[in-house]
Parts: sequence; structure tokens; C-alpha cells
Amino acid sequence: MPNQSVNTNGIAGRSQSFDFNLNSFKISVNFGFLVENPLTSLPTYFNPWNTLAEQLPELYKAKRVREAVHELPLLDYNQLSGHRQLRLAHLQLSFITAGYVWQNGEAGIPKSLPKSLAVPFYRISELLGMQPVLCHAGLALANWRLKDPNGAFDFENLQCIYHLPGGYDGDWFCIIPFMVEFNFAKCLKNFVEILNLLNVAEVSNARDAALTDIENRVALQLDEINKVIQMMTKSLTRMHDHLDAKTFFNEVRPFLAGWGGEGTPLPDGLVYEGISTTPIKMLGDSAAQSSTNQALDGLLGVEHKKSQRDVLVKMRNYMPPEHKRFVEYLENRPYGLRNLVESSTNDVLKSSYNNCITALVQMRTYHIQIVSKYIIVASKGMNEGNYKSLDSKGTGGTSVMPFLKDVRADTETKMIGSRQSKKSWLTIGAVTAVGVAVIFGAVRFFKQK
Ligand code: HEM
Repeated sequence: MPNQSVNTNGIAGRSQSFDFNLNSFKISVNFGFLVENPLTSLPTYFNPWNTLAEQLPELYKAKRVREAVHELPLLDYNQLSGHRQLRLAHLQLSFITAGYVWQNGEAGIPKSLPKSLAVPFYRISELLGMQPVLCHAGLALANWRLKDPNGAFDFENLQCIYHLPGGYDGDWFCIIPFMVEFNFAKCLKNFVEILNLLNVAEVSNARDAALTDIENRVALQLDEINKVIQMMTKSLTRMHDHLDAKTFFNEVRPFLAGWGGEGTPLPDGLVYEGISTTPIKMLGDSAAQSSTNQALDGLLGVEHKKSQRDVLVKMRNYMPPEHKRFVEYLENRPYGLRNLVESSTNDVLKSSYNNCITALVQMRTYHIQIVSKYIIVASKGMNEGNYKSLDSKGTGGTSVMPFLKDVRADTETKMIGSRQSKKSWLTIGAVTAVGVAVIFGAVRFFKQK
């Protein structure tokens, strides 16, 4: 693989070289957080897993997943080699586990996972630094393949390796995030360029013409990021093409649920036999586990208030650990993009930055509309009542709407200048209202006299 770093040499006559390397975060410059060319089957020794994962949709429909799991031999996961085999094994076992737990709905849920499934799943997850549950890193990052391997990475040419319930609607629910993640990959080189430029600005303590040059270059990179965020939103709009709200709410979504938590059918969690007799709690699959938005927040310096932040930080435990490290790196840089933008008088830079914030707010607004259609409205008019614990909560465990709206509001406040102007308008509004009330009060007082 080529070195996926970008050098920013000779900025305004200086020759600084900073090597920000995406490889060290297991991020591909072409595929971003997606697994690059995922495997679609494991070596023959693992055929019991290959077969069961492939047959899952039929077995699930016939409520025979548990039967099939009870016949699984305990395979030696040490015979897996390399990252791609481990990711595929994790994906297979996460699908099989979800099928095992949820095959009969909320009724008669098993309290434990048999050893032949639990031990390899738990240990493989440990090796990967991932969680032993169906999650975004599997479903949306490792589950893609192309119908025509020589064709484009595009909606029509994408398919799933393993299938959620709900037929093609379930596949489409995965194909949209494949595309959103792929769109995001297009701005990674701009991330790298900005990080390198920030390093140059910080280390060289650039001033005057040199600083203006850096700022203009950062602005150009931000313009590209803005286009990518808009592309991501455009991909989201395709959700409606093949995902029916009733199918999603009643068939797809319950399969994504986790275990543990008040009001859920497994309040204490699930026992992974052969690992521990204490039940383990896991969040369900949620695209809130995607690193894309958290990386954008990190780069743009969008900080979230404590309650939203606590949720988002918890979601990071479901990312591959290297991606979590990338998000943390962006967030914790001592000299970040906002330092540059806030201290700058360069209108081009400020406007490019604000355009990115606007695009991110618009993406979050569109996502809220999706959630409203597929969860809020569907839970009222289309709810078949089989999964009561999911009526008011996201599969990631949030009180859906307040959380998403607060996350968007945090983003909005990052518009440079907007906070002050909002504040001042609010102040002017409040002062005017008080003034008018005082005048009316005084007039009435004198009339009464
Ligand atoms: C039918 C489609 C979808 C539904 C019903 C849905 C639902 C939700 C819900 C309920 C949450 C809150 C966290 C939780 O409890 O799970 C959430 C968060 C989130 N979702 Fe989705 N989602 C959908 C599609 C997507 C897609 C395709 C993406 C992009 C890949 C996405 C990205 C996010 C992100 C980034 C968050 C975290 C909040 C934020 O950064 O704004 N979602 N989603």
C-alpha cells in the first residue's frame, strides 16, 4: 500500500515537512474507515461459520437459528490469520449472535450465548479491540462487496455479504452507510493537508504573508470538505428509495438491538458462556458508532455538551480502536483548526469554515428527518408491537430526538460570529421587549390616574 501521507513542503518559502500518516490509524485513503476489499468467506476449516452466516436469513425466518447454533462445533479461532480474516469472522459471528438472540422477538429470549459461539466471538473481538456484538464497524464497514468487481463503488453495484431481515430493504439500510462512508473517504486527503498546514503554522509561528498563504490553503481544503459533507447528505436522501418504514421498524431494527439496560428484555445483559458467568451489556448497532461525523466534529472543533458528549464518547468503544484513536487525535490536538480560524482576520477562511459548519448542520437536520420517518412516525402508525423496548429508544440507547437535536444545536453554535450575533440579537430583543412593557405600563398607569 502506498504511504498515505501528504507532505506540505515549502510553504511561503519555508521547507517544513510533516508526515501525518493515515496508515497508522488503519484508515485507507481510498476507502476511509471501510475495510478495504473485505473477504467474503473464511478458509474451509471455518465452513460451519461460513454456511450458517450465509443461511441466516432463511433460518431466521423459520426461527431455526438457535437449533443451528446448538450444532456448531467449537472452532479454534487461532487458525484465523490477518486483519481481514478476523474482521470477516467478527462479522459472521455478530450476525449469527443477533439471529440467535432475536429470532423469536422479545418473547423467550435466551439469557446466554452457547460456548461454541460465545468463546470465538468474544476472543476475536478482543484481538481486534472491538465489541462482541453486531455494530457499525461490522454491518457498515466490513459487509460490502461489489456485484461487478471491476465496476464502480456505487449504489447500484453494491451488495451486502450478509443480510439483515427485511429482504432488499435490509440490504439498502446497509448500502446507504457504505456510500456515506465512501463519500467521507474523499475528504481524508484534505484532512491530512489541513493537519499538516496547522503544524506548519504552529511550528513556524507564521506571520503576515506566510500566515495568509497558509490560511488561504486551509480555506481551499475546507471548500473540498464542504462538498464532501454535501455528498454524504445526498447519499442519505437515497434511503427512501428502497427502505420501507414499516419493514424497517418491525423487521430490520429489532435485529440491531443490544442487551442490557432498564426496560429491555435482557436488563442485566447476556452471558457469554465459557467467558464469564456474569452477564455482559452491549449497545445495539447505531451509525452513531461511525467515525465520520465524530472526525468532522474533531477537525472542525465542534464540542458537544456533556450529556451528548457522554453518548458519543461511549459510541467510540464500538469503533475499531485505531479509528477511535484518530477521532481522539483530532479532538485533542493542542493547536486545532478553530484556533487558526478564531484568531484570523481572513474572511475567506472564516467563510469556508462556516460553510462546513452549515453543511454539517444540514446533514444532521436531514438525518433527523430520516429518524422522524423511520422511528417516530413508524412507532405510532406502523408498530406491530413485537419489540416494546425499542418504541422510544434508539438502538444505541438514546432518547432519540432530544439527543439528535442537541447534537445539531451544539454544531450550530460553532458558526464563527453567530453566537455573538445571536446573543446580541437576543439581548436587543429582550431589552426592546422590556422597554415596550415599561412604556405600556407607564401609559396605563398615567391613564388610570
Ligand atoms: C433508517 C435510517 C437511520 C435511522 C433510523 C437512524 C437512527 C439514529 C438514531 C436513533 C440515532 C441516535 C443514537 C442511537 O440511539 O442509536 C442516530 C445517530 C446517528 N446516526 Fe443515524 N440513523 C439512520 C441512518 C443513518 C445513516 C445512513 C448514517 C450515516 C452513515 C447515520 C449517522 C448517524 C450519526 C453520525 C449519528 C450520531 C449523531 C450525529 O453525529 O449527528 N444514521 N441515528
